[in-house]
Amino acid sequence: METIMKKQFDLTGKIALVTGAGQGLGKEFARSLASAGADVFIMARNVPRAEKAAEEIHEETGRKIWARFIDVTDEHSVMDAVQFVRDTTGRLDILVNNAALGRGVTPLQDTTLEEWNATMNTNLNGTFLCMKHFGKMMIAQKSGCVINLASLGGKVCLKNCCTGAYDVSKAAVEGLTRCMAGEWAQYNIRVNSICPGYILTDINKAYIAEHGDFYEKSLDHIPTRVWGNPEQMGDIAVFIASDAASYINGSNLVADGGYTIF
Ligand SMILES: NC(=O)c1ccc[n+]([C@@H]2O[C@H](COP(=O)([O-])OP(=O)(O)OC[C@H]3O[C@@H](n4cnc5c(N)ncnc54)[C@H](OP(=O)(O)O)[C@@H]3O)[C@@H](O)[C@H]2O)c1
Repeated sequence: METIMKKQFDLTGKIALVTGAGQGLGKEFARSLASAGADVFIMARNVPRAEKAAEEIHEETGRKIWARFIDVTDEHSVMDAVQFVRDTTGRLDILVNNAALGRGVTPLQDTTLEEWNATMNTNLNGTFLCMKHFGKMMIAQKSGCVINLASLGGKVCLKNCCTGAYDVSKAAVEGLTRCMAGEWAQYNIRVNSICPGYILTDINKAYIAEHGDFYEKSLDHIPTRVWGNPEQMGDIAVFIASDAASYINGSNLVADGGYTIF
């Protein structure tokens, strides 16, 4: 029984790609997918950081891990990255659209059009461009799994935060996920998103260290009264990418300790 269950979550032989994977959740997605057996492309703008992450994950898991440049806002860069994948493995089974610009702290009325556009360009248009070009590989293969990163901020208005461009971009990613799940089902491609709540990444830990009051207040809105950790998000990506989730398509899997219940 245990062996059958392990097989359901096994990603051996799969090729995965995670954008923005040099640090934070992206790095954890890469590590978790590799731990489950996948070979992984780590792509980001900061190549030395991506290479360091690749080395670390290879040491830990023994899987093939490639590090390469991508700027998800630049269509030519995305197309170059696709060519690199074609030349290296000839196929792509799992695409995790993780790259994003984080939530700003500027109230909407003070947000410049440049700031607004930069967020949309990375979080929404970058996801679109990667889906468009890597999706063509998957359509040709007649198989694939896309995992987009949505957010709690795209579902509800967060207390004690400035909402705006980030939250709108993530709500749109959820919409894009649903649309493409419908359109690409005919090609045997599943498209889902993960909706993390507050997660203790290194960047968030540093923010909390300086804004302890924000952390304390946030706990009042999370029924479990704890922030999530990156490993928990990695496990969700492995689940969605695996055969265990073969009937899950077009879902936005919320992992927020219950924040959205109320
Ligand atoms: N952490 C949380 O609590 C939380 C909660 C909800 C949702 N999320 C979502 O989860 C994902 C990861 O979050 P995180 O906290 O790990 O964020 P993060 O630490 O800021 O990592 C995002 C990565 O995206 C990359 N990136 C940004 N612009 C890019 C571009 N144009 N092209 C390629 N890569 C680009 C950056 O790497 P380079 O600079 O090297 O390119 C950066 O390392 C994001 O989509 C975020 O919105 C996170």
